[in-house]
Amino acid sequence: MSGNGANLKSWVARNRYSSLAHYAGAALAVWVALSLWTFSPVLHRHLFVLLLAAVLFTARFIGFGPAVFCSLVSTACLDFFAVPPYLHFGIRTGADAERLTVFLAISVFAGSMARQKTLAESRAERTTREMAAIVEYSADAIYSTGPDGLITSWNRAAEQLYGYTPEEAVGLSVARLAPPERQAEVDRNLEILNRGGHVASYRTERMRKDGTRWPALLSVSALRNARGEIVGTSAIARDISAEKQSEEAMRRSEKLATAGRLAASIAHEINNPLEAIVNLLYLARHDSFHAADYLTQAEQEVGRVARLAQQALGFVRDAGAPGSMDPAAIMDEILQLYSRKLDGRRIRVTRRYRGSCQVNGYSGELRQLLANLLVNALDAMPDGGSLQVRVATGRDWSDGREGVRITVADNGSGIPRNHLRQIFEPFYTTKKDTGTGLGLWVSRGIVQKHGGSIRVRSRASGRSTGTVFSIFLPQQHEISRVA
Ligand SMILES: Nc1ncnc2c1ncn2[C@@H]1O[C@H](COP(=O)(O)OP(=O)(O)OP(=O)(O)O)[C@@H](O)[C@H]1O
Ligand SMILES: [Mg+2]
Repeated sequence: MSGNGANLKSWVARNRYSSLAHYAGAALAVWVALSLWTFSPVLHRHLFVLLLAAVLFTARFIGFGPAVFCSLVSTACLDFFAVPPYLHFGIRTGADAERLTVFLAISVFAGSMARQKTLAESRAERTTREMAAIVEYSADAIYSTGPDGLITSWNRAAEQLYGYTPEEAVGLSVARLAPPERQAEVDRNLEILNRGGHVASYRTERMRKDGTRWPALLSVSALRNARGEIVGTSAIARDISAEKQSEEAMRRSEKLATAGRLAASIAHEINNPLEAIVNLLYLARHDSFHAADYLTQAEQEVGRVARLAQQALGFVRDAGAPGSMDPAAIMDEILQLYSRKLDGRRIRVTRRYRGSCQVNGYSGELRQLLANLLVNALDAMPDGGSLQVRVATGRDWSDGREGVRITVADNGSGIPRNHLRQIFEPFYTTKKDTGTGLGLWVSRGIVQKHGGSIRVRSRASGRSTGTVFSIFLPQQHEISRVA
């Protein structure tokens, strides 16, 4: 308590002295004005202006209270020195009283305006300081460039993420931050910004000083001067390594879930040839005359089992490099694997394949994608229905690229219009106990990785319900490492 009392006392004392100093400053300003008036032959006829300047000075640099005090003292000085009879207080005429009142009003008004300007300036200065601190301590790399693409500012996170110190970075071309194969991307961004456009956040890769790369979420915008002219660019780059790792884990678990769901179908498919092999071996042992035939047949059955095992492995294991694949053949494999389930549900399958379709990519991923769509269609038709699959050569609607269009259409329950936007989000599912809600999210990722597009049309009410998924995969596409 006594500590608080002492603090309060010292605060009051400090403020009292600082207030006194402020009022003394105001009096000093008046004194300087009077001195200039007295000793300067040029300023001798301008006492009014000098005193007004003293008020403005006080308001601008000392405070509003001292400025009002300065106005009052200045009015008194005008009365004393500039209103006849001189060197006397006391107003003689109504006009003089009017003049002094107008001076007082003008000086108080001007003082308050000057004060407001000072306050606005210090507020702007504080905001600038705060913004600078936010930028400096942000976890995202924030940097700016001039119109020539040379870096002009560089925050701490940029130093950590890119490995260049501010001294090294300032003056460096922004192109050095992108890997060599992404130089075209930097040029395109600069071109868009110079045209007055805006580059929305996108996933890309950036390169450290030592040449290692990191996945980044980058957004770039134009910097303009007061006249609206573009004077440079500012960029924010976020390190999304952790995000990518967790996405990768989710993708892997979905892949395993798809493989798990397939296990039942595969076990059934393998059971038939195994039974046949056992029978054929028995026959070969007991009928030596036809043994060679039986063994050849058994060999064929073993081949079937091996193919099934290969297909199953295709879901979980992908060759290191992408290769040419035939979507129609992969569609057939998937339909074969699910044939028992399709028959059991009395689902009529219509296939329409047109043109010889080959695309470049990972066949295991295409299998996963088609299996996801097929299982979704199966789930939507618990009491039977019809499934139409189409694979045909075609062109992308938006840019005319050549490729393959794959369509999977069912006449199942359909998806309500208000849910359509959510179906590609991770964990969105209407199958509470059986679904993870990752199937379509992963499927869209696979399509994007292969440079394609996926669309859905669906109707959940009315006489005919159903869903159509349509995928376009371009024939040639450089598969990026950042999905
Ligand atoms: N052909 C379809 N007919 C009706 N609804 C569908 C169809 N395809 C997808 N959906 C809806 O979209 C949701 C999301 O599908 P998604 O494949 O991402 O997850 P899921 O099937 O629920 O679970 P899983 O991760 O096991 O695939 C489904 O729960 C379902 O409501
Ligand atoms: Mg699914």
